[in-house]
Amino acid sequence: MSTAEKTFSKGLEGVIAAQTEMSFINGTEGILEYVGIAIGDLASNSSFEETVFLLWNKRLPTKSELEQFTKDLQSNYSMCDAMKARIKACPVDAEPMHVLRTLVSSMAMDDSTPNENSVEAARDKALKILATTPAVVAGFDRHRRGLDFIEPDTSLSFAANFLYLLNGEKPTDAMVRAFDICMITHADHGLNNSTFTARVIISTLSDMYSAMTGAIGSLRGPLHGGANEGVMRMLNEIPTLDDVEPYIMNKIKNKDRIMGFGHRVYKAKDPRAAELMTLAKQLADHTGNSDLYEKSHAIEQIMEREYAAKGIYPNVDFYSATTYHCIGLKLDLFTPMFALSRIAGWSGHVIEQLGDNRLFRPTTDYVGPHEAPYTPIDER
Ligand code: SDX
Repeated sequence: MSTAEKTFSKGLEGVIAAQTEMSFINGTEGILEYVGIAIGDLASNSSFEETVFLLWNKRLPTKSELEQFTKDLQSNYSMCDAMKARIKACPVDAEPMHVLRTLVSSMAMDDSTPNENSVEAARDKALKILATTPAVVAGFDRHRRGLDFIEPDTSLSFAANFLYLLNGEKPTDAMVRAFDICMITHADHGLNNSTFTARVIISTLSDMYSAMTGAIGSLRGPLHGGANEGVMRMLNEIPTLDDVEPYIMNKIKNKDRIMGFGHRVYKAKDPRAAELMTLAKQLADHTGNSDLYEKSHAIEQIMEREYAAKGIYPNVDFYSATTYHCIGLKLDLFTPMFALSRIAGWSGHVIEQLGDNRLFRPTTDYVGPHEAPYTPIDER
């Protein structure tokens, strides 16, 4: 390709780097579809298990297929003894996202054929990583609290099992449904940074575990999945509803980034934020956290007044913070929740990439010197 044909797009903005059949985003109109189905319809009618089947098979399952897929997940909920030992070796003050990245990476050592990249093998690895990771996250949280691991209940759904593993008691239907909607809305989202990372890694024909590990590393960044924890810290810093306006206006004056707002693609409200806003209000009212929701809503109104003209609206992370808090999750488990769900999208993209692979290798616009002399060290 000649230099003239090369174009430089900082952050690869607007560059099409892959084709996918999983999620479609119209950033101007605030539309998100998984295999053509609107995210609002899935949030209202589907389950995380059904949504994962849809993403991986490009169609909704029949009743018997969904039952079988659910059983396949349930039969892989448990951690092996080696994983339990690794969790117990983790420092109790380690950051959960560092633990998650490390332990998902270690899953390669529990797999007799970790580098197998056939579609069948990739699907099998994807299913096991997706099914087991809730136990890993819940297991570390119990370890750091000095509590014993809970053994999974293979009669429970993905959402119910995670909350059970974390708290040691069966969750209420309302909490299960809320968590299930969170998992549905976070499952896939085009070529976001962590998904792109997974595709870049597998494009060298590396392995599923390396791709998942890289994706988790990307997701923890505060400009990406780490933003939901940043939103919660912001809400905790604002004492009362009356303090919202001065707090936000001060951040704007300082040109600080307001976590949970803005998006590379959406220049309208993220449709997931709309779904999670409704859920956050219901949960906040139900759990005595109405002040959190009211502060969030007040921030949204100020940001709309100040920034809507710039196309800066709430994104998926803004109301997920209140939702996760009301479900009873600790702040530093918010981004791991994003990862639990996005493993579905990441692994789906890994399988798509393997199906039509070409090594990712962009180029640079070299702006350094040419024909420079080598100066001996004694003359420098
Ligand atoms: C996720 O890509 C995906 O799909 C990601 C995701 C997914 O599902 O995978 O949707 C999940 O990562 C959501 C985003 C979570 N991150 C945050 O909430 C962090 C805060 N937001 C931003 O930092 C920012 O909006 C990004 C990183 C998300 C997008 O940034 P861009 O596209 O690189 O835009 P930019 O940084 O070039 O900003 C453009 C302008 C700048 O102003 P000017 O310099 O032109 O005057 O908008 C401003 C920015 O300062 N701006 C903000 C802002 N976001 C952008 N100003 C204040 N607060 C913000 N949040």
